[in-house]
Amino acid sequence: MPLGFTRADFPESFLFGTATSSYQIEGHSFGGAGRTHWDDFAATPGNVVRAENGDVACDHYHRMDEDLDLIRDLNVDCYRFSTSWARVMPEGRGAPNPEGLDFYDRLADGLLARGLKPCATLYHWELPSPLADLGGWRNPDLPYWFAEFTHTIMSRIGDRMYSVAPINEPWCVGWLSHFLGHHAPGLRDLRATARAMHHVLKAHGTAIEAMRGLGMTNLGAVCNFEYPNPADGSAEAQAAAARYDATYNQFFLSGLFHGRYPDLAMEGLGPHLPEGWEDDFALITQPLDWVGLNYYTRKNIAADDGPWPALKEVSGPLPKTSMGWEIFPQGLHHFLTMVHRDYTKGLPLIVTENGMSSADALIGDRVEDPQRIAYLADHIAQVKRAIDEGVPVAGYFIWSLMDNYEWALGYEKRFGLVHVDFDTLTRTPKASYHALVDALGRAAND
Ligand code: FCB
Repeated sequence: MPLGFTRADFPESFLFGTATSSYQIEGHSFGGAGRTHWDDFAATPGNVVRAENGDVACDHYHRMDEDLDLIRDLNVDCYRFSTSWARVMPEGRGAPNPEGLDFYDRLADGLLARGLKPCATLYHWELPSPLADLGGWRNPDLPYWFAEFTHTIMSRIGDRMYSVAPINEPWCVGWLSHFLGHHAPGLRDLRATARAMHHVLKAHGTAIEAMRGLGMTNLGAVCNFEYPNPADGSAEAQAAAARYDATYNQFFLSGLFHGRYPDLAMEGLGPHLPEGWEDDFALITQPLDWVGLNYYTRKNIAADDGPWPALKEVSGPLPKTSMGWEIFPQGLHHFLTMVHRDYTKGLPLIVTENGMSSADALIGDRVEDPQRIAYLADHIAQVKRAIDEGVPVAGYFIWSLMDNYEWALGYEKRFGLVHVDFDTLTRTPKASYHALVDALGRAAND
């Protein structure tokens, strides 16, 4: 089953890539990595399916060369990976772990040797436990510790990075982890949420400052987006969807580009922001070179009783992935258009994550995933639509290279282009991988 596009349908400079993150693939029991708050969260009953953790994950730590060959052979241009703070600095501060620095150094060289552009994210959620002990993202000093980590890792590999973003998905670091409690540290606390949401943007700022100080260029921010669909035609549902939009989709962009937070978010979060928060916007709004959008789904939002934000998600009518997420490709076009029009105004946009999970099974030596091919084709078509309308979209990355640790859902949800058998750790490219090889092959298009 073909994907229905080729490189020739996109501008010459358009970049295709695939993405992973450190804790989800590397194996955090290897190479002197420190303990993380995900290890603590997973060890607490009820937080993660089967209490699975990232001790071994895909064992990428030991299989890096095989994995980098898979990326090269996929015919993509770029690889988006993340650097684990706890692997680089096991205590979160102070002495770095030489093995950790060596690992990312080999990764950078291994990518360049294969003609791939290294696209780094500094933080994809594995906070070192010693910093969680000090309050984690609630602690006002965290942005400065993050700058120290940034300086340490980028002094070593920054010379070879094509692009870098400090933090993956501030909403997940703030809201999902401190308000909904679905991710580490699993808090359900409004005040902690407000502080984490502000500190995460402040840490973005200190990291950008540290990297500019190292002379680095092509620095961006990666935010996630969900289309806020009112569950019905009532004014209450529309108002609830607007509150969802403000806290999910607008909060971080508004901070980064307008130096303020949306009124609808301030209704709940404003009283709990840390002292002096208004003074941090000079740091937060430093110029960026690009913005990344992670997009998967829409949510149907209804009003709910109870305190702010007084809303709830309800199930919708569209076909769903194995995450239970509705498939809504038009949402990607909506966000590319909205971000360009309301915030970035001409800055290159990159789709830094898009993809789907499904219950993929290895039958013989094949994994058939036509639903993933259709999902990718439909979303890539929306990217092309946005480009044709003048939105400066510069790249598209698929989540994920391979099946991996899907956080609170453990190893059950398979997002990969490559199937991983978690008993043997054998990698098997799925049909979607082969379809991309054909669509992205330069020789085939010449
Ligand atoms: C994103 C995360 C990524 C993965 C996908 C499915 O929110 O960045 O690590 O979990 O969702």
